[in-house]
Amino acid sequence: MSAARPPEGAKAPSGGSEPHAVGERGGHMRAPVLMQVSGLKVAYGKIKAVKGIDLDLREGEITTLVGANGAGKSTTLLALSGLVKKTDGRVLFDGRDLTRMAPHRIVAGGVVQVAEGRATLTTLTVRENLELGAYTRRDKGSRAHDLDYVFNLFPVLKERASGLAGNLSGGEQQMLAIGRALMARPRLLLLDEPSMGLAPIIVQDIFRTLREINRAGLTIFLVEQNVRQALKIAQRGYVIETGRIVLDGSGRELLVNPRVQEAYLGS
Ligand SMILES: Nc1ncnc2c1ncn2[C@@H]1O[C@H](COP(=O)(O)OP(=O)(O)OP(=O)(O)O)[C@@H](O)[C@H]1O
Ligand SMILES: [Mg+2]
Repeated sequence: MSAARPPEGAKAPSGGSEPHAVGERGGHMRAPVLMQVSGLKVAYGKIKAVKGIDLDLREGEITTLVGANGAGKSTTLLALSGLVKKTDGRVLFDGRDLTRMAPHRIVAGGVVQVAEGRATLTTLTVRENLELGAYTRRDKGSRAHDLDYVFNLFPVLKERASGLAGNLSGGEQQMLAIGRALMARPRLLLLDEPSMGLAPIIVQDIFRTLREINRAGLTIFLVEQNVRQALKIAQRGYVIETGRIVLDGSGRELLVNPRVQEAYLGS
């Protein structure tokens, strides 16, 4: 059965593959902005990795940030999670200022990043890894329910629940990392290149599941080098080049944008 409860903070689905819902009079009703990033700058010593970017992450949407190697994607995510120091700029989340908040408080506030490089704890079981995801939560009661939700999304994790995470394939470890983040009941899920190193068929599978999680109402910010796949599932996209946003638009608009096609889609 697939009628699992969506993660906390979930709202109504955001309208399938449409960039946003269309209002009664044919006008576009945009969902409210859940996270607003303005003028974000990050430097590593003399290296200016992010040079003043603005992003609106709207409630219930998948927003993607795409770009080449070294463009500043991971740095942007780390800054939102509070894991690197911002040189300048401001991050508002649901009206609260996260700009200088400590990473653990950002997580507790509902902004949860999926561990990079599938950093699962290989000597623990799959189930133990998932339970650790719920560790920061105060309400322990609904854990079993959330575990069911994750097992519904990723049946393979249920089959392998008692096995060691270290024995999972790369794709399964990525699923476990996503599942673990969901156990923290995020309101905004951050992902850094979940497709990295995975076979195309597994990537499709993971992206399909991200769509499903999003349809259940969760807001997602997806950083990707796999520009085509990311733009296909995202309602909204930003293109970053050497620390600056050079293009933005709906996922569909960007997919057919000549500049995007030439630079990222090999056509
Ligand atoms: N810890 C660091 N110290 C110094 N420079 C760094 C550090 N991390 C990243 N950089 C530099 O900052 C810039 C942006 O890097 P970042 O990792 O954010 O890019 P990215 O878009 O995530 O790239 P990729 O697609 O390869 O993951 C690059 O020039 C990179 O070399
Ligand atoms: Mg990166």
